[in-house]
Amino acid sequence: MAWTMSISLQAGGLILITILLIRLMKNHLAGGRRRLPPGPINLPVIGAFLSVGFRKRHLAFFNLAKRYGPVVYMKLGGADVVAVNSAETAMEVLKIHDAEFSGRPEHMAGEHIGFGYLGLDFCPYNAHFRKVRKVINSELLCQPKLNEMAYIRREEVLSLVATVAANCRGGAPFNVRSPIDDTVTNIIGRMMFGRLHPASRKLAEAVRDLKTVRRDAVEVEKQSNIADMFPQLARFDLQRIEANTMKIAKRFGLIYEIVVQEHKINPATQNDRKDFIDFLLGYNEGGDTFSENAIKAMLNDMLFGGIDTVAMSVEWPLAELLRHPQKLVRAQQEIDGIVGKDRPLEESDLDHLPYLHAIVKESLRLYPITYLTPPHVNEHEAELFGYRIPAHSNVYVNLYGVAHDPSYWQNADEFQPERFLGSDVNMSGTHFQLIPFSSGRRRCPAVLFSLLQVPYTLAVLLHAFDWTLPATMSPKDIVMEGRHGAANDKLQSLIICAKSRLPAQTYNL
Ligand code: HEM
Repeated sequence: MAWTMSISLQAGGLILITILLIRLMKNHLAGGRRRLPPGPINLPVIGAFLSVGFRKRHLAFFNLAKRYGPVVYMKLGGADVVAVNSAETAMEVLKIHDAEFSGRPEHMAGEHIGFGYLGLDFCPYNAHFRKVRKVINSELLCQPKLNEMAYIRREEVLSLVATVAANCRGGAPFNVRSPIDDTVTNIIGRMMFGRLHPASRKLAEAVRDLKTVRRDAVEVEKQSNIADMFPQLARFDLQRIEANTMKIAKRFGLIYEIVVQEHKINPATQNDRKDFIDFLLGYNEGGDTFSENAIKAMLNDMLFGGIDTVAMSVEWPLAELLRHPQKLVRAQQEIDGIVGKDRPLEESDLDHLPYLHAIVKESLRLYPITYLTPPHVNEHEAELFGYRIPAHSNVYVNLYGVAHDPSYWQNADEFQPERFLGSDVNMSGTHFQLIPFSSGRRRCPAVLFSLLQVPYTLAVLLHAFDWTLPATMSPKDIVMEGRHGAANDKLQSLIICAKSRLPAQTYNL
């Protein structure tokens, strides 16, 4: 008995070793053709956590790329993670293999903040995604719709000038973030539900609440979630991040219910200028409509995804210009040369302000509003740059890394808007060395809007006011560090002084 057991144990061991050897050989042979991309050592359970940590992952990926090359592979939280860090590799993901890498991972935020993955941001690449994207493009963010809504941008930016003028009376320093933030909130709010806002008291109150909920949401969102690292711990919700996200989603949901209900109670008449919510409520393509949750998710996409991004894209260059006063003067001289001092700057003037556009580009290059794209996920095993990418990998395009690549950018860490003068590099997603809006199927849907709103707001602020630092500060005291949440918020908001530089009647002050 003992004999037979020992023989069968030996035979079993032999079979096991043979299977392992065959597997190893197979892997080796396959590896000859298609290997995983290189990367740091992956330890059991924690993977490459020690190499990348929680915070400033864009910098960790950027540094890993210096060692391993532009495509870096690692395990994080049990997931296969790939970071791409150069213009060429970004183009592989976002253009050449765009269709394969257009998914998103499952995440509790998609469930709660995305109202069941029904908005764009968290939605997998499926028929619903394509329907939402098409509607947002054709009914809200395309050029003709933006032209129709130009009066909203003008009214709100002029109102921003009045607010800044009121804030800066007596030369006292003030926090420039909050009026810019309010301006963008009002603009996007009016684009979505402008027919009733601000005439409806309930809606006006909802928008006020929205500002508080958004602030609270950003606080939750900026926490590093241990469960993202160790999904096994997700069900314990140790930091109560999921519980807090659910609360925030509920508060957003209640506000959006008011928006929808107000539109249902007061339907648009023939003479009304319909807004986006009117359109969504009336949408019916052969019986296919939008559920209330889908409408809420889209509201969230626009209001949550659009406000900080645009507001920060105005604040960053303003901060850089205060650090470089000659560039500030140059921008103002350019504006004065086109607009003069007796009329307000209009959007139509923007076509004649190359230096201003160079400032916006340089600022979005130095401080891309999202340092890393959200993960792009491939449903099936795929290939990038000859490397094997396992199915369901989280592929991050390091927008910061791309925009700081020394092979494209000399003195990449310096603010030099002049580098764009006479250059045809634009940010529409075809010049992969500068893709702050990303590219391909998942490219930000609001490129046209943002590239109007950001330069317009900045130009008017530069035209209407002279900007200086409080007497106690010098340019080197300005903190140019980002907070690295979903949007790259400037860590400290800019506290500055403004002084009207034009006759009061120019901006009706
Ligand atoms: C300067 C301003 C902005 C910048 C730099 C920016 C940048 C980005 C980036 C990098 C992405 C990720 C793309 C990817 O996954 O590859 C994105 C996605 C998105 N952005 Fe923007 N964005 C800006 C403004 C806005 C505005 C104003 C809105 C809405 C009104 C908006 C709505 C969205 C949405 C809904 C997505 C998700 C798209 C998807 O997953 O398919 N963004 N944006």
